[in-house]
Amino acid sequence: MVVQNSPSSQATPASLPPSVFTLPQTAQLEALYTIIRDKETSRGDFLFYSDRIIRLLVEEGLNHLPVVPKTVVTPTGATYEGVGFEGKICGVSILRAGEAMEAGLREVCRSVRIGKILIQRDEETAQPKLFYSKLPQDIEKRYVLLLDPMLATGGSAIKAVEVLKEHNVPEDRIIFVNLIASPEGLKNFCAKFPQTRVITGWIDQGLNEKAYIIPGLGDFGERRYCS
Ligand code: URA
Repeated sequence: MVVQNSPSSQATPASLPPSVFTLPQTAQLEALYTIIRDKETSRGDFLFYSDRIIRLLVEEGLNHLPVVPKTVVTPTGATYEGVGFEGKICGVSILRAGEAMEAGLREVCRSVRIGKILIQRDEETAQPKLFYSKLPQDIEKRYVLLLDPMLATGGSAIKAVEVLKEHNVPEDRIIFVNLIASPEGLKNFCAKFPQTRVITGWIDQGLNEKAYIIPGLGDFGERRYCS
């Protein structure tokens, strides 16, 4: 028997799809976002504070996984009727920015399998194109935490879920975890995959003409790996 889980994330406003969950919008969380959005923030601080948010997001993603009843005996000899994790998980990062979220997943799920997907814009068609994927062999039996920090237009995330579905992962076993989402990206993604849950830390105003999230934090990969 699977016990209904009660995630701590906030139910989304009525204007957003029901599959979208945000982290509790506390002042503490906003302070973390303020640091990583600031263009003056050093690379070291960007790493440290984005990792703090990633950790919260990964924990929240795990809250959406089902559990089963489990009884244990404590050192006092008493029994405790609790729950245990049900099913196996894996992570799949969308390269390259998604790789930054792998360590956060490994911190909380020891020896978790992690796959990778590289999607880039096809210059001829202007559509997202799969360039490379390496996924756990038994991925269709696992819950998948799909990792990509920035949900802008939704093109890469949609392509990534299509790849996972081609590998027989059911849509409702995928949990897409990201730091900042645009309303446009959420709308596109959720219209295509209404059963895939999206866990996001913050929903921003929108996109600019170059498809950057506004106010956003610029290019996540550049800030994380280069500046
Ligand atoms: N990717 C980024 O790194 N930043 C954005 O604003 C959008 C996509």
